Amino acid sequence: MFGESVKKILITGGAGFIGTNLVRYLLDGRPDYHVYNLDALTYAGHPGNFDDLPDNLKSRYTFVHGDIRDAKLLEELFAAHHFDGVMHLAAESHVDRSITGPEAFVDTNVGGTFQLLAASLRDWQARDCPQDFRFLHVSTDEVYGSLGDRGLFTEKTPYDPSSPYSASKAASDHFVRAYGRTYGLPVMITNCSNNYGPYQFPEKLIPLILLNIIEEKPLPIYGDGKNVRDWLYVIDHCEALLTVFETGKSGETYNVGGGAERQNIEIVQALCSIMDERLGRAFGTSAGLITYVTDRPGHDRRYAIDAGKIKNELGWQARYSFEKALEDTVGWYLDNMGWVDSVRSGDYLKWIELNYQKRQGEQ
Ligand code: NAD
Ligand code: DAU
Repeated sequence: MFGESVKKILITGGAGFIGTNLVRYLLDGRPDYHVYNLDALTYAGHPGNFDDLPDNLKSRYTFVHGDIRDAKLLEELFAAHHFDGVMHLAAESHVDRSITGPEAFVDTNVGGTFQLLAASLRDWQARDCPQDFRFLHVSTDEVYGSLGDRGLFTEKTPYDPSSPYSASKAASDHFVRAYGRTYGLPVMITNCSNNYGPYQFPEKLIPLILLNIIEEKPLPIYGDGKNVRDWLYVIDHCEALLTVFETGKSGETYNVGGGAERQNIEIVQALCSIMDERLGRAFGTSAGLITYVTDRPGHDRRYAIDAGKIKNELGWQARYSFEKALEDTVGWYLDNMGWVDSVRSGDYLKWIELNYQKRQGEQ
């Protein structure tokens, strides 16, 4: 794909968890890309994630501090750079936050995606509709709702979102698909399972639990702890995204998953064992912090992905073993406690305190 030797790619949300890993992955391994990272730097975005990169990699990186809801900014950006493709990750991403404050999810995930589609379409049409342009929307398996004990989500599973977060991602998927069908914009969607790895904000299960273990705080388990998620190492996800971006078919959807289904309690117990060993604590010390709390409202019971389409059609499959990648993730956090301190802003601490107070009040 692409006619020129260095391709200009717009990545939105590139200062967040997956975005940071994706931008670093591209800068490190793909000298044929110039990455433009558009990020509003909400509580979840950290521009310092690229400070350690050497200058030769930074020369192919441009950071734009801005909001995907800002139509004027988008128009100026596209007019200045005429991107060869867009990988759209910017979003409000945390389910619990969507329960306490759904409006931001509608604004960014639905409204922002719409503005990005509109700007992409205008520039694409002004350039005579190049067919090798790609708009890749990075979405979630949560749009499919919940599974029972058996079965897998396929690309044909009907949408059935449970939370304001997943409803907003479902709506944005529909807009993306509609822009493909109505205007011919070359769009693609990936629906991926739970990611873990470096740079994940410590409100999500794995980093939250491992930091609480270090700080000897309670380890909150929602409900009975038997909800199941399919876990994918973030680098596997980055490779899947690049595979789809470069070789996926316009108009198609691809499910992405790690084939690593685990109950939440199994994840927490695994982290407890790893951390007892790493911190030199007696075996069983960290598990003593496990605390069952009120369930998340609308909590989906089980997610599991059939990733057969992306494997059979594009040749991608997850490479990392869950056990090894979880150990590596723990190692990354232990080596980067300075990063943790710097991302735990006042806003985050205020939010988490309110959330805990609310949950305690419900018990
Ligand atoms: P994240 O919350 O860590 O990062 C989101 C980024 O988007 C942040 O840098 C934030 O500053 C930026 N952002 C938020 N609102 C913005 C706006 N209005 N304009 C510009 N930038 C804005 O999220 P993540 O976990 O890295 O997820 C990235 C994408 O992948 C999301 O679209 C999410 O729905 C999807 N996804 C995530 C997972 C997962 O397990 N984390 C799994 C499947 C899909
Ligand atoms: O499935 C993909 C989705 O995975 C992404 O689209 C979302 O952006 C991402 O946040 C993630 O959503 P989850 O809700 O599954 O992730 P979270 O880490 O919040 O929770 C994982 C599971 O652990 C879930 O069943 C709820 C539970 N949980 C979570 C937290 C934060 C707890 O039991 N205790 C907790 O403190």
